[in-house]
Amino acid sequence: MRKELFAASLCASFCLTAASGQAPVRISTHETDLILSVAPNGRLYQTYLGKRLANEADLVHLTYNTQGGSDASSPARGWEAYPGSGAEDYFEPALAITHNDGNMTTILSFVSSETKKIDDNVTETVIYLQDKVYPVEVALRYVAYGRENILKSWSEIRHREKKPVTLWRYASNMLYFERAAYHLVEFNGDWAKEVQMSAQELQFGKKVIETKLGSRAAMHAHPFFELGLDGPPRENGGSVLLGTIGWTGNFQFTFEVDHAGNLRLLSGINPYASAYELKPGEVFTTPEFIFTLSDEGRGQASRNIHNWARRYQLKDGQGDRLTLLNNWEATGFNFDEQKLEQLMKEAKTLGVDMFLLDDGWFANKYPRANDRAGLGDWDVNRAKLPGGIPHLVQAAEDAGVKFGLWIEPEMVNPKSELFENHPDWVIHQPNRQTYYYRNQLVLDLANPKVQDYVFGIVDKIMTENPTLAYFKWDCNSPVTNVYSPYLKEKQNQLYVDHVRGVYNVFERVKEKYPNLPMMLCSGGGARCDYEAMKYFTEFWCSDNTDPVERLYIQWGFSQFFPSKAMAAHVTSWNKKTSIKFRTDVAMTCKLGFDISLQEMEEKELSYCRDAVANYNRLKDVILDGDLYRLVSPYETNHTAVMHVAQNRDKAVLYTYDIYPRFGEKLLPVKLEGLDASKTYRVEEINLMPGSRSRLAGNGKTYTGDYLMKAGLNVFTTSSTNSRVIEITQQ
Ligand code: GLA
Repeated sequence: MRKELFAASLCASFCLTAASGQAPVRISTHETDLILSVAPNGRLYQTYLGKRLANEADLVHLTYNTQGGSDASSPARGWEAYPGSGAEDYFEPALAITHNDGNMTTILSFVSSETKKIDDNVTETVIYLQDKVYPVEVALRYVAYGRENILKSWSEIRHREKKPVTLWRYASNMLYFERAAYHLVEFNGDWAKEVQMSAQELQFGKKVIETKLGSRAAMHAHPFFELGLDGPPRENGGSVLLGTIGWTGNFQFTFEVDHAGNLRLLSGINPYASAYELKPGEVFTTPEFIFTLSDEGRGQASRNIHNWARRYQLKDGQGDRLTLLNNWEATGFNFDEQKLEQLMKEAKTLGVDMFLLDDGWFANKYPRANDRAGLGDWDVNRAKLPGGIPHLVQAAEDAGVKFGLWIEPEMVNPKSELFENHPDWVIHQPNRQTYYYRNQLVLDLANPKVQDYVFGIVDKIMTENPTLAYFKWDCNSPVTNVYSPYLKEKQNQLYVDHVRGVYNVFERVKEKYPNLPMMLCSGGGARCDYEAMKYFTEFWCSDNTDPVERLYIQWGFSQFFPSKAMAAHVTSWNKKTSIKFRTDVAMTCKLGFDISLQEMEEKELSYCRDAVANYNRLKDVILDGDLYRLVSPYETNHTAVMHVAQNRDKAVLYTYDIYPRFGEKLLPVKLEGLDASKTYRVEEINLMPGSRSRLAGNGKTYTGDYLMKAGLNVFTTSSTNSRVIEITQQ
């Protein structure tokens, strides 16, 4: 009876009729078409995903994949845009629900769709689906960014059953591919070993990439992948899909090659331990799955994502970035006002914009003298810093730089007043021995009171110090001892509600402090997803600042993130390499230093000052230019990348000899992205004082055509040697 009522009320707005004759739903960028069509059975199928079709009239030729079924009323097994569980498809569903009567099947029919032009570049499409038997509705949402060739997709699930239903699968998106073979590149890692790339051909069955870390997406796997659709992904050619999920918690990508050799790709929150109870009328919104399909290799695919991220997703994506001096590597927890004031002056001497005070500045009852105490007590440590934060902000101002501060507000040490006063605010087991990751625990962000508390930390600091210029926001522990005191018997909602609680805080911070730049950090680069990046201007790629390792880490992250989002600091890691090499590596990203100038020789300091000045002069090109990855460190003993200004009048080329072999054959590097018809002057910069460039052809002019076809001989047989070359249109 209730079901009939529901159907009747729904019919008033969009009546469910057999949808044959319904025009296909076309979701397009300038380069790509995703086409979804309603079959005679009223259900929605993917009929095309590929290069954009030139003629609308050709859409009529698209048919449902007929493998496994030729009857028009039940067309094909598989290829359903958002398959529910329990129907004729025997693979992993996008949606699975246990209904009030215990029934576990869901079959969605097309109801209607709307497409809205947001502006001349962006189009939003929503497709409404509904189960004819149970009052469950799903909206599939797509945003298409024309010029950037990016598609973003997620789903919204709601129902009107009497009591809550249980969602046990809730993908953001499902895509199908019909190719001869599929080559997956995944990004695995660990602390200080982020985004190690490896490739494999997918075979029959499932390959799952997922994490179960709770408070962050990454550590052993990162929330993005590359999928080669006509061979292993290549830099400058071939069909490749780059995909990523915006979720700062447990994610899952499932790649399933079926019996017919077709690939299904499911992206979403990891449903592990997360069967979610959805109340009637409540909307379950899944995270954004973001992808680009390139026919010109992964280089172009990365540039698509970079352009889109700067324009649409990153906090202040089009704005400037602050260079900085951080004190973590230089002092650790061991500092006082005098030492910090000295470092602020050093920041000024270097020529950077800001001094960033890291961990160790807070807590009194249990002072934060190391990582075993104090986390949670965000009052300044009066013994170390008697003048408080206001004094430091003033001291930085006196030194001529801005002041930024490290916080880790989602965490607590058991040795803290916060833990003593609010043990019920902490995710931990009531009846088991506690396991500590970095001696700390995660606050229970599912609890609105805890959300208020975390927001309050930032708000209090900002209210007391309105000119504070920056936060580095850390998150050093995954969720451990998985039990939320707040959720009580609904522990299966912890992983989802915790992340939503984190977003609630991020949102409030952004709303109140929209212009405050913030770095996202998570024990190195473990928080690196595009939902969190709506709230942060950049992220910390890795605690590993050994420049050799960084070449690989930055190469990996650059597949998905623009240079301006990737923070890279010059430190004392791998002192066997020169300060020039370390700086030249950090120069390709958002540059900072985390080193005491006291340990530098005069000429090293002079080199660094010069490099900072060059960086500032070339910032537009480095931070907002197009990135071309020219030579891969994975394939050779060298690597080279370049940034090209959007109008192609300027470029910066960075070349690195890692560990070349004796007498190795050196090949010229062919540049990319220049205007073939223009003439450019080539000049090596970032030289050590007193040394001159030994680059053949330094100071000469060349046509873009020559530089891109013949290239430059930039590599050497010296180990850990680098060059930064400025290329200027004449
Ligand atoms: C994490 C960060 C570091 C530093 C320390 C401070 O490990 O990645 O950069 O801020 O925390 O404890």
